[in-house]
Amino acid sequence: MIAGLVVVATVAAWAGFMAYVVLGKKRPEEQFADEPSQELVGARTAATAPGYVVELEVPEPAPRARRIDEDVRGVSRRKFLNLAWFTALGIGTLNFLLASLDFMWPRLRGGFGASITVDLSLDELRNYVDQRQEPYFVSDGRFFIAFYQGDPAEAEDIPAYKQANTPQTGVLALYRKCVHLGCSVPWCHPSQWFECPCHGSKYSVTGEYRDGPAPRGLDRFPVEIRGQQVVVDTSTLITGPPRGTTTSQPQPEGEHCVTVASE
Ligand code: FES
Repeated sequence: MIAGLVVVATVAAWAGFMAYVVLGKKRPEEQFADEPSQELVGARTAATAPGYVVELEVPEPAPRARRIDEDVRGVSRRKFLNLAWFTALGIGTLNFLLASLDFMWPRLRGGFGASITVDLSLDELRNYVDQRQEPYFVSDGRFFIAFYQGDPAEAEDIPAYKQANTPQTGVLALYRKCVHLGCSVPWCHPSQWFECPCHGSKYSVTGEYRDGPAPRGLDRFPVEIRGQQVVVDTSTLITGPPRGTTTSQPQPEGEHCVTVASE
């Protein structure tokens, strides 16, 4: 939309400028020195009549006329150049401002930062997670879909779950960014935990802290269920549950993928 505005504003500015130059006010014709005045025409007519002797008053020589092509439109060459320069400067500035605005304008038509509808239905997500024994990764939103495993009443008392609508939906949208220093956290199939390759932080399948330097569990996004659709609002980041939260997997289910020494 803003790109269209840039084009329209540019065309309008140049059109206005050209209209001003082309339709500029004409100077009065009598100012042109190469056309005789009415008085002089009358005097010449009388002087040619038979029997008349007319003492002609020689008019003062007219000031040297400026070039017609400079004056005929009321816009001198210098004025034209000044106008062109300032118009170009104004258009350039306007384009820069609109381009900056376009760059900063949030894109809310999908992708990270917007509400995202997961491409699998709720039933398909359950089947995926059950059969593959791993959360479903949504690359557009940079989150994993997992399912809450504890008591819904318990989730009501944990702000990270309550704010994400977990008691109502049972669905979790876990931000894959490690809450320690921001690395992407992959799923470790053998241990059935998320394990950060950077410094070894580990999280359960519901994103609860289990090991390493991370200060808390994985952050997450609010989830809404509309029929079979799972809608995740990635514009709202919810702080992960504190250390000590254990509604799922207190222990790994197999070998770790990351063996970096923890704190
Ligand atoms: S960034 Fe993940 S443990 Fe440090």
